[in-house]
Amino acid sequence: MFLRKVAFPFRLEALNTRRSVFPRETMSTYSDLAAEIEAEILTAQDLAALDAVRVSALGKTGRVSGLLKTLGALPPEERKATGAAINAVRDQIQAALDARKDVLEAEHLSRRLQSERIDLSLPAAPRAKGGVHPTMQVMDEMVAIFAEMGFEVAEGPDIEDDFHNFTALNFPEKHPAREMHDTFFFNPDENGVRKLLRTHTSPVQIRSMIAGKPPFRLIVPGRVFRCDSDQTHTPMFHQIEGLVIDKTAHMGHLKWVFDTFLSRFFETDTVITQFRPHHFPFTEPSAEMDVRYSRNGAEIRIGDGDRWMEILGSGMVHPNVLKACGVDPDEYQGFAFGMGVDRLAMLKYGVPDLRDMFAADTRWLSHYGFSGFAAPNPASGLS
Ligand code: PHE
Repeated sequence: MFLRKVAFPFRLEALNTRRSVFPRETMSTYSDLAAEIEAEILTAQDLAALDAVRVSALGKTGRVSGLLKTLGALPPEERKATGAAINAVRDQIQAALDARKDVLEAEHLSRRLQSERIDLSLPAAPRAKGGVHPTMQVMDEMVAIFAEMGFEVAEGPDIEDDFHNFTALNFPEKHPAREMHDTFFFNPDENGVRKLLRTHTSPVQIRSMIAGKPPFRLIVPGRVFRCDSDQTHTPMFHQIEGLVIDKTAHMGHLKWVFDTFLSRFFETDTVITQFRPHHFPFTEPSAEMDVRYSRNGAEIRIGDGDRWMEILGSGMVHPNVLKACGVDPDEYQGFAFGMGVDRLAMLKYGVPDLRDMFAADTRWLSHYGFSGFAAPNPASGLS
């Protein structure tokens, strides 16, 4: 082991020049052996092969270790220098092993990096579990169509008070809609005031007119609540309200807005609509609008056929409503409309039962839901 401690700064080539000390044949045996082993090292193709070379050269019974065993037979004056020379061979081979190991490891790493490469610039594959509910999809489609016609989106609270939901909308004190069996009321607060869940989106007409200045052209998507539940009614559903107030707006404009909206929404050129006289406290005159459709089994088609389907309530905004909001009815006029969103979603996307819409059944949702990436807009398509 003492041989390891011998400091020997030159490489083997340098030793070759000191022929006075070593017989030429000994030195060339060493350098031949070193060259032979170095060649094996350089051709080792992987770490296992390299290790086999290491064992065969430097291992206990390896070729270099074998040389060391010959030292004992040498005359003492040659032993030191020969030992140092063999050690130099060993160091040289060790250095070659280390260098080759670095190269093989680097190659292995770059092969691994190449095979495990992930291209971060690729778009993520959309594998979202959730989906957009058809009602929300249809709301977005409606907003996109009305926005293109110049309507702004307005919103209001689900929990309303009597003034905005009824009084300012010209409901008489004893109107049946104010009854418990139609409206969800909260318990009276400490001042005796009863809040309620809004029964329609019309209170947002009031809030918007009080907060702003005419002219108005807005739509109000939102949730509404009525104490009602059967095959075609759920206690919560969705409406879109519309309001147009300026100096000249009239029912003819309303009909154009709706014919245009429906043909875009149902993607057909042949929409036929009719007004049917109706009554709402907040409009005068009032009308419901029906649209022509045909039915073939479960399939419903808008745009042909001879049946009428009611789709919205509408009318000219009552002067009392304008007055309640500080808008002068002698100067301004306009129309309002409200329609059920869920029913139009059912019609457009063939959902058979309204109650399924809100049953929160994940199988239903994954069947009827839309991708969150498919945001409707007039440029790329609405459905
Ligand atoms: N608010 C009415 C309803 O819920 C719909 C409507 C809105 C009618 C605006 C006329 C004008 O039935």
